[in-house]
Amino acid sequence: MKYDFTSYYDRRRNGSCKWLKLNTIDEKSRDNVIPMTIADMDFPTCPKIVDAVKKYVTTEVLGYSEPTYDYLDSVKNFFEEVHDFSIEKEWVITSPGIVPALSTCVRAFTQENDGVIMMTPVYNPFYHVVEMQNRRIEECALILKDNRYYISFEKLESLAKKDDVKMLLLCSPHNPGGRVWTKEELQKLIDIALENNLIIVSDEIHADITLKGKKHFILPSVDKRIERLSVVCTAASKTFNIAGLQTSNIFIANPELRQKFVDTNLASGIEKANVLGLVATKAAYDHCRDWMEEMKIVIEENQDFVTAFFAELSPRFKVMEQDASFLAWIDYSELNVDEKEFYEFLAQECNFFVNSGKMYGEVSKYFIRINVGIPTEQLKKNLERFKRGVEGKYLYSSAGQN
Ligand SMILES: Cc1ncc(COP(=O)(O)O)c(C=O)c1O
Repeated sequence: MKYDFTSYYDRRRNGSCKWLKLNTIDEKSRDNVIPMTIADMDFPTCPKIVDAVKKYVTTEVLGYSEPTYDYLDSVKNFFEEVHDFSIEKEWVITSPGIVPALSTCVRAFTQENDGVIMMTPVYNPFYHVVEMQNRRIEECALILKDNRYYISFEKLESLAKKDDVKMLLLCSPHNPGGRVWTKEELQKLIDIALENNLIIVSDEIHADITLKGKKHFILPSVDKRIERLSVVCTAASKTFNIAGLQTSNIFIANPELRQKFVDTNLASGIEKANVLGLVATKAAYDHCRDWMEEMKIVIEENQDFVTAFFAELSPRFKVMEQDASFLAWIDYSELNVDEKEFYEFLAQECNFFVNSGKMYGEVSKYFIRINVGIPTEQLKKNLERFKRGVEGKYLYSSAGQN
């Protein structure tokens, strides 16, 4: 490997949201524990991003900034070359993150009490941006079949037909299920949207991290007609591990939707970009694709390790095959254990910090989500602690057996 994906880097000192979890356990037990919750990775930043940011900080004034033509060229080239998807530069609006953009879309394109469709379980801020803005969640639960998620098109169609349902929040690839939606699936979604005048806001933040040769399709690349009814949310933040710089690129082809989005942002005072986020994104897209490829190899190895680990531990754990990204999704319903008890046991007795499936919806209560974007050796150590704890308490105890 040309880049460093093995160093253990203690992020407690820099206020990492994920690492602050460790404050809940005593100092002595913290050695070698890496929390595997919030979706950022514990790998050092690609040196070319660091160099670009350093250069900017030492030579430029850190004033208000807009994306430059060069910046927009980089975004355009990246999507053409990596995703075979062509954008016009005027489609791009920068936003201080994808979650703020989702929130803006909800305000811009729906009224209070309107329905917004989402396929559950799903990334938890989807719920917040709808419910906390007084819109109604229209749940289109994913179908769980043979340990893989599928879209219920029948349900989707019936929801889309309701008069006050205006929007679908799509997670593509899906977090936490790891599904890369196929071209055929996306085409069906598009057909339903076009027929019912349903706006699709497609969160594609995990799009670059496809695994095992899977191909991700940026929504309008499947069918150009959806350009008039869609918003595509993208960012370099997951792929290049720069989420703290809070910068994303939102593609809106339809000028009317774009203007509404811009005006709604203006009303909230969201207008200018974070200049260091722009610098880092440009450096990432222009110069760090080899880092991205190496990162994907490490993630694929880690995902494979998790799958093999649970298969060997017990058939009562089911690891969902991940087409994309660094989140593993594990069904433990066959342990027959209370969700809260299990989650607390993992954190308190095993120093094993993951997200409870309940965060992503009631339907996934008996799942855990593990962030495998950490050095492989640390992942192994974390899983060893899980094994020691869970074997004694749930697998080979008098209460049950493997
Ligand atoms: C599907 C999805 N969307 C959005 C985000 C966060 O985006 P941002 O930090 O740009 O708001 C995440 C982070 O985990 C995510 O998984």
